[in-house]
Amino acid sequence: MEAVSRTAQWTAAARALESERESPLFVDPYARTVAAGIGFELLERYAGAGTVEFLAVRTTYLDRAIAEAVTGQGLRQVVFVAAGMDTRPFRLTWPEGVSVFELDRPALLAAKAELLEGAELPAGVTRTPVAVDLAGEWIGSLVEAGWQAEVPTLWVVEGLFFFLPEDAVRRLLATVCERTARGSVLLGDVASRASLQNPLARPFLNALKEDDSAWLFGTDEPEQFLAECGWDVREVKQPGEEGAEFGRWPFQVVPREVPRVPRSFLFTLDVPQS
Ligand SMILES: C[S@@+](CC[C@H](N)C(=O)[O-])C[C@H]1O[C@@H](n2cnc3c(N)ncnc32)[C@H](O)[C@@H]1O
Repeated sequence: MEAVSRTAQWTAAARALESERESPLFVDPYARTVAAGIGFELLERYAGAGTVEFLAVRTTYLDRAIAEAVTGQGLRQVVFVAAGMDTRPFRLTWPEGVSVFELDRPALLAAKAELLEGAELPAGVTRTPVAVDLAGEWIGSLVEAGWQAEVPTLWVVEGLFFFLPEDAVRRLLATVCERTARGSVLLGDVASRASLQNPLARPFLNALKEDDSAWLFGTDEPEQFLAECGWDVREVKQPGEEGAEFGRWPFQVVPREVPRVPRSFLFTLDVPQS
């Protein structure tokens, strides 16, 4: 497995800890299995970055936004971009007739298939793993795997953009926006630029770099950046703000006017109507 794909086991370990709390925000019954020993080792190695709290909030924000998109908006085609060890196709309640595609590196998808052997999908849901390099051309592989461009799609890009150079992030967002049907929605997260240089997070950032998983991209102006990539920005929230707090965010939320602050942003985007 590529080094960066190990980070998927790190985030799965954080989801396992939330799942095993008293009164958890969500329960991912597969998280401990897919995290394996390495996920918990990385959780220790990258300690101090607030990962467990952040993952609890990010997962919950996205779980709720996914539920709204499929039950509220009626979307039936879902693409998890850089799915990693996320197990939402198995653990969420889906309406009948949902087609899920999971994009990630080939070795990650092969390891996930082994770890999840025997896990059963809810009735009426199909799941298609698609091996790609998201920094290159990948939409053709998704089409070959059965994705229908004319069907409005829910895209979820969780925990990816840190690891790509800016031009690849822009290309990915613009490609999806150009190719997906009206009525499609994209959910995701992105870090601020200051997060890449935060002196307090230096040990964490250095450890990621040593592990060949350096953080490469962040933006302090997510609304502007996402709009430049073609999207209508419905919502951008920092963890801890109303609608992205869930009783689990222990840190201060610094107002957006204060510049050069390490932050994360959770967002919901729509394809423009015209
Ligand atoms: C931090 S994990 C996030 C996984 C999952 N979305 C989650 O939130 O737990 C980052 C994921 O991005 C994938 N990834 C990074 N660069 C990639 C690339 N160029 N092509 C395909 N996948 C990539 C890794 O394999 C890994 O699964």
